[in-house]
Amino acid sequence: MDSILVRGNGPLNGDIEIAGAKNACLALMPATLLSEEPLTLTNAPRLSDIKTMTALLASLGAEVSALQDGKVQAMSSHGEINPVADYDIVRKMRASNLVLGPLLARLGHAVVSLPGGCAIGARPMDLHTTALEALGAEIELKDGYLHATAKGGLKGAVHHMRFPSVGATENFVMAASLAKGTSVLENAAREPEIVDLCDCLIKMGAQVEGAGSSRIEIQGVDRLHGATHPVVTDRIELGTFMLAPAICGGEVTCLGGKLSLVESFVGKLEQAGISVSENARGLTVKRNGERVKAVDVVTEPFPGFPTDLQAQMMALLCTAEGTSVLEETIFENRFMHAPELIRMGAQIEVHGGHATVHGVGKLKGAPVMATDLRASVSLILAGLAAEGETVVSRVYHLDRGYEFIEQKLSGLGAHIERIKS
Ligand code: EPZ
Repeated sequence: MDSILVRGNGPLNGDIEIAGAKNACLALMPATLLSEEPLTLTNAPRLSDIKTMTALLASLGAEVSALQDGKVQAMSSHGEINPVADYDIVRKMRASNLVLGPLLARLGHAVVSLPGGCAIGARPMDLHTTALEALGAEIELKDGYLHATAKGGLKGAVHHMRFPSVGATENFVMAASLAKGTSVLENAAREPEIVDLCDCLIKMGAQVEGAGSSRIEIQGVDRLHGATHPVVTDRIELGTFMLAPAICGGEVTCLGGKLSLVESFVGKLEQAGISVSENARGLTVKRNGERVKAVDVVTEPFPGFPTDLQAQMMALLCTAEGTSVLEETIFENRFMHAPELIRMGAQIEVHGGHATVHGVGKLKGAPVMATDLRASVSLILAGLAAEGETVVSRVYHLDRGYEFIEQKLSGLGAHIERIKS
């Protein structure tokens, strides 16, 4: 298992490329199952999770080829589609559950393994199953697999979700796009990745209105055609790299970054004393020397502060002036980066869903362990400004969501290298 070595190396300056969104691409790729015609995604990120989704779609009978050094996913599912999504692949990546809606819509049945829990939480599927049952699916759990059938096809319906689940919204919208009649999803998730998926479905001939709001209306159609669609910019990678100059000092422009993708996150950065400006090239982040100020953070569904940036924000607040309280309301176990940051000298107390961070002057480099995707990058960020060397082990977590992170951060002047093992 590879590790990454980081050494504090002073302020960071320059431009950094932001890739296409992993969490948009993982929802867009299963959409190929909705049509027999080719679906091509450009600006796709080059990540291990995308490779896992590719393997899953191939196991279902779709063809997926990564072109132009992996940034284009050319897909088609014109052949015989197999309805079974195997545990071996699904257990590696929860987003595999996003084939459930498309398989039901295309074939009228699906057998999808429950993904099982992951480091950050139990990750149940009840919001997905109740949403699809509202469209007429019958879903039964047998031997760890969801067996879903829709005799006579899916029928449009109005459904209110008790929580705005991102994945359940995506499964519902994809399934409803081929259902008979009109569907309305109330309390839908509003993330930019939902808007991106709906934009792509509309290009394929779907009739969807209200994406990005909490009420999405879908008029089912008989069939969808092929399309070419650019994957939206990754707002979580954007926020992650905006924190690099915030933590180290300096001035960095995140190319292609848009304020609308990270509004609540930027509000907190500015509260901490970081300056952020939007320009034709992207978002420019600057910290002119003095220490950042402590801020309180509560994670919420979009447009609130993203849970996927909570660990990275904690890395910034470890050396802020004052005490910050971070409340994690989305996942039940998403503070596993805290004990690792404490190894670097951070002062953090975790009680249930709250983490209290007492800012210290400087962190000290130490060997630390990645536990999940966003925790791993928060340790890299902390190491960028720490005194001495930090070695982050188990960086396969990192490779799931950040492409070429060493090259990107080295380009800003960071001292970061991968230790192959
Ligand atoms: C998506 O996961 C993202 N993944 C996650 O990003 C992100 O953290 C999450 O949305 C919240 O924004 C992808 O898009 C591939 P949810 P998803 O359904 O769809 C509970 C990353 O780091 N829940 O909105 O699985 C669930 O347990 C990843 O890139 C149910 O109770 O998230 C969680 O507590 C991590 N029942 C909350 O809702 C369900 O049926 C939010 O889950 C589904 C979810």
